[in-house]
Amino acid sequence: MQKIISLCKRRGFVFSSSEIYGGFSAIYDYGPYGAELANNIKKEWWKAMVQMREDIVGLDSAIFMHPKIWEASGHVSGFSDPLSECKKCHNRLRADHLLESADVFADEKMSEEEINKIFSANMEKIKCPICGKSDFTEIKKFNLLVKSNLGNFTGDWSKDPVYLRGETCQGIYVNYKNVLDTARVKIPFGIAQIGKAFRNEITARQFIFRTREFEQMEMQYFVSPGKEIEEYGKLKEVRWQYYLDLGIKEENLKWHKHENLVFYAKEAYDIEYNFPFGFKELEGIHARGDYDLSQHSKFSGQELSYLDPATGEKYIPHIIESSVGVGRTMLAVLSDAYTEEKMDGEEGRVVLKISKKLAPVKVAIFPLLRNKPELVQKAKEVYDLLKPTFMCEFDDNGNIGKRYRRQDEIGTPICLTIDFDSLEKGDVTIRDRDTMKQERIVVKDLVDTIKQKLEQ
Ligand code: GAP
Repeated sequence: MQKIISLCKRRGFVFSSSEIYGGFSAIYDYGPYGAELANNIKKEWWKAMVQMREDIVGLDSAIFMHPKIWEASGHVSGFSDPLSECKKCHNRLRADHLLESADVFADEKMSEEEINKIFSANMEKIKCPICGKSDFTEIKKFNLLVKSNLGNFTGDWSKDPVYLRGETCQGIYVNYKNVLDTARVKIPFGIAQIGKAFRNEITARQFIFRTREFEQMEMQYFVSPGKEIEEYGKLKEVRWQYYLDLGIKEENLKWHKHENLVFYAKEAYDIEYNFPFGFKELEGIHARGDYDLSQHSKFSGQELSYLDPATGEKYIPHIIESSVGVGRTMLAVLSDAYTEEKMDGEEGRVVLKISKKLAPVKVAIFPLLRNKPELVQKAKEVYDLLKPTFMCEFDDNGNIGKRYRRQDEIGTPICLTIDFDSLEKGDVTIRDRDTMKQERIVVKDLVDTIKQKLEQ
């Protein structure tokens, strides 16, 4: 993990938020390559979940929503983490995680009383991961919703809070009727959205795995009650394949079935990824029954049922969802791609064997020598030719070997070098990131050749 964190910092993928002020816990900024990678992750998700699907449409709902939405969804009363404090080192820790690492089962949805009973009964087995002691305070549940003072000019916003959304899907549920009435969709259909979510996460020690501000990519699929399990099975397959298409190694993925379901859920699985700290949730795929729309119908007083035009049947649609974080995907992708390679007669290299679709820079362009204006000028011409089609980077700094190493570390699939032969023959050397093989290509064929290579 340290190697990935160090690469992210060194090469400008991820910075701590507000670093010059000493940082801001569990909040991160994406640097130039991180922003490219995050955009590419979002683009691929949108392509798979919206562009390629006739039955799914996109949405971009606001972060602020009517506070009643969070009451209807159950977040105000039930969206909380059970916490305990180590009496020795005074760190606050997630009690469900402490129990899990002691091999004791507890569900985060259990009441304070239930979880406290299990916790005290197993106290001797439970060790503080920071100081190793087994002495903890009673568990208290802390709500994860982040409050704001939007629109409250009287001062006491704790009484009447507006929340920053804790998940993006609520914006989808409350727009379900709008979409149904305006887009030409009929059940089964889905609504997809990418956007920021905010949670007062307590454990904040796993880099971008769990942050207090993060982006979610969520798709909610509206189905008739009788089709829920069949459609759920299809969505699980689609989402598994999606990660393989992103180039993630299948042995690093596994299913985790939720055994203790909330009362309204029919089934819930996570796709787990083998992060450097072990298999952990990457994405949640849940069959949520009619809970969400029933709750919003009850709290808003609006009719949210669906009239099937073919059968005349009227029902509240059931929902199956796919939900994953951009940052968490980024960490999985970086962990999967990070490779250290030994090379004959040279020092080794770190190479990010990332899917070409996700690589932040697609083509790097180097003049062989920076002090030869004719080489620099030719390289600039190649850069200008390619930049409208591909994300390119021009680099004339250091020897060619160093420049290759720099691009390998950020996963650039293709490097082009302009040398003295290029001036005579109108060609360049093209070098492949993974095989390190080089060949010569004439400049006029470059756009098509690179397109083909990026597709492979
Ligand atoms: N709408 C369902 C939902 O939000 P969740 O399991 O709480 O379910 C879904 O979150 C996904 O969102 C997770 O699998 C993870 O990828 C991402 N996620 C959740 N909390 C996160 C956090 N604090 N930081 C980064 N990603 C997070």
